[in-house]
Amino acid sequence: MKKLTVIVTALALLLSFTACSALEGNQSSQEQTSQPETSLSSTPDTSAEDSMQEPSNNETAQFNLETGTVLLNSGYEMPIIGLGTFQLSDSECENSVYHALLYGGRLIDTARIYGNEEAVGRAIQRAIDEGICTREEIFVTTKMWTADYDNADAAIDASLERLGLDYIDLMILHHSQPENDVEAYQAMERAVEDGKLRSIGLSNYYTPEDFDRLVNATTITPALLQNETHLYHQSTQMKEHLEQYGTVLESWFPLGGRGQTQILFNDETVVSIAEAHDKTSAQIILRWHLQAGNIAIPGSSNPDHILENLSVFDFELSQEEMDRLTALDRNERFADY
Ligand SMILES: NC(=O)c1ccc[n+]([C@@H]2O[C@H](COP(=O)([O-])OP(=O)(O)OC[C@H]3O[C@@H](n4cnc5c(N)ncnc54)[C@H](OP(=O)(O)O)[C@@H]3O)[C@@H](O)[C@H]2O)c1
Repeated sequence: MKKLTVIVTALALLLSFTACSALEGNQSSQEQTSQPETSLSSTPDTSAEDSMQEPSNNETAQFNLETGTVLLNSGYEMPIIGLGTFQLSDSECENSVYHALLYGGRLIDTARIYGNEEAVGRAIQRAIDEGICTREEIFVTTKMWTADYDNADAAIDASLERLGLDYIDLMILHHSQPENDVEAYQAMERAVEDGKLRSIGLSNYYTPEDFDRLVNATTITPALLQNETHLYHQSTQMKEHLEQYGTVLESWFPLGGRGQTQILFNDETVVSIAEAHDKTSAQIILRWHLQAGNIAIPGSSNPDHILENLSVFDFELSQEEMDRLTALDRNERFADY
């Protein structure tokens, strides 16, 4: 029964994404002005150039749970749920990315260090060839590895080459590395100017001071910060700090991470809310991320799980349920970096 519900939901999701895409393609300029923040387009709005020249913009990121997108401070629209590819082999990765796209997912997260950018590129090309989606509808994130910070311009070109893309929607620095992360970020800024990257951001910056160190030394405000974030480590302080920059938080390990998911799935608060909604623990946790304003990129090698994870738009957690889930925070990370 649950599986049937998931399939029906996914079809609805797919239809809604298709409808949005069709709308995007056919929109007259008048229609575009009537809904500037809610289209699925990954085209920047007119504030894009301003925000690139104006590092300290004060816009707060707006999550739209109808379209499943958020408008980044770079002016580009980004899906708020997608697929992570950490620890996926080439064949698993290609299969997972293809199925995510098939089921209506449009956000893919990879990294140079995962060794699967080429597999991501192959799956995207296959989905485009089969008419599942267009390049413009897909949002691809990759990350610059710390060992590449001294050769950042070449690292950007190499990721583009491996992905088989002529632009990357979002590139982020993989970790804080004070000795040379500013130079690496500046290379990403140049790549934005050159049209190779659309948005840029950071990953694994865990204190406001460290985040500000990078921001104060660079020009383009990070569009996004990707940190370990889940029910037991909710990143509340960093999220509050990001508000002044209009920078959105993205959760890695949204389900607790491979090998640790049962800890969160079996949490009794999660289980009781899942039963109340006739949803799985994974769906409750992912819906919590979205309603809390966190972009979520659950990793999976299993197409059934991918479909389930994308099917979180047909129910809503009440304020009381959100409060119970928020109360689970214990500032406990599962990774040690
Ligand atoms: N910036 C960083 O330093 C950093 C670090 C780690 C991860 N990341 C990114 O964040 C993404 C997410 O993190 P993650 O993949 O490590 O951990 P995760 O998404 O928290 O958990 C992945 C685990 O959840 C399982 N799973 C997924 N959906 C499920 C479902 N519906 N039901 C049951 N099990 C389910 C997966 O198993 P199956 O394969 O069986 O579905 C896998 O074991 C990564 O893939 C990567 O893109 C970034």
